[in-house]
Amino acid sequence: MSMQLPERYALAHTPTPIEKLARLSQLFEGPELYLKRDDLTGMGKTGNKVRKLEFLVAEALREGAQLLITCGGLQSNHARATALTAAKVGLKSHLVLRDSAGSDTDGNLFIDRLVGAEVTSITPQEFEQVDDIMHRLAEDYAKQGVKAYVIPEGGSVALGALGYVVAMEEVSRQMKTLHLEFDHIISAVGSGGTLAGMLLGKSAYGLKAQIHGVNVCDDAPYFQERVSNIIREAKRKYGFELNLPKKDINIIDGYVGKGYGLNRQEEIELIKLVARTEGIILDPVYTVKAMFGLKDQIRKGRFTKSEKVLFWHTGGIFGLFPKRGLFF
Ligand SMILES: Cc1ncc(COP(=O)(O)O)c(C=O)c1O
Repeated sequence: MSMQLPERYALAHTPTPIEKLARLSQLFEGPELYLKRDDLTGMGKTGNKVRKLEFLVAEALREGAQLLITCGGLQSNHARATALTAAKVGLKSHLVLRDSAGSDTDGNLFIDRLVGAEVTSITPQEFEQVDDIMHRLAEDYAKQGVKAYVIPEGGSVALGALGYVVAMEEVSRQMKTLHLEFDHIISAVGSGGTLAGMLLGKSAYGLKAQIHGVNVCDDAPYFQERVSNIIREAKRKYGFELNLPKKDINIIDGYVGKGYGLNRQEEIELIKLVARTEGIILDPVYTVKAMFGLKDQIRKGRFTKSEKVLFWHTGGIFGLFPKRGLFF
């Protein structure tokens, strides 16, 4: 393998543990379930985004940036992780957030403000041009003599996806130590970088597990296209040798439910069930939808009792707090 990874800035608490979900496996009457605890990559910096930021921030620092600009929904985990990371490495941050309801300073947004991020709210229509908006903002900062580094939505560019290439190497080492071989690995998909990194890492480190992404917005063709573009960029820039037709990118579609960031009562009940069965807290935007998909696919017979499934917990706990009213 001739791949060459750029340097990264260590931010995540890794390796994150792999835990057996014995009680949930029994309850779902399906495969042996395991959990990859990327909700433990940090406390404030919990979740998958910090693995991507290790590469993105290292590049920002190499380029001499003084400020990070990024974007996302009002409760974006990625924006929160970026704001915390900026504080950690001594940079400023400016977040451009999609705001349809003029919501309270709660959950992730509370943390954003706590660490001193500048926040600009824009409408969902304006958000369609968010890349242009962020680049204009960077130009405005440049005029004031401040060098900004722009991170696209979710950090889902090839450089960010490398965080999950490294994570797959981590899993491959853990499988050896734990004497486990996973048949399937499942993760939520929101902007595609995590899944792209997992697929690149699977091929780079020769893992046998099938990788599945459960989309939390849009649909399977949209993410097959998006993930395939990130993989193409990674091949060009970092020398990966993966030829994966779009149709072979497994997206488990059908679990978006009411829409991105919106919850059905069944999802809220599943968060409670997992919390009460395993003491594990799923987030309402990503991991609960992926778990819902997994549970339903087990019911439909897609994953069998003799198989081992690794569910990747990608964090997101702060998104739970603004939704407290849906629970009790
Ligand atoms: C908690 C959580 N899980 C999963 C994802 C999906 O990751 P990606 O955007 O790389 O597809 C995100 C971000 O979008 C997230 O914040």
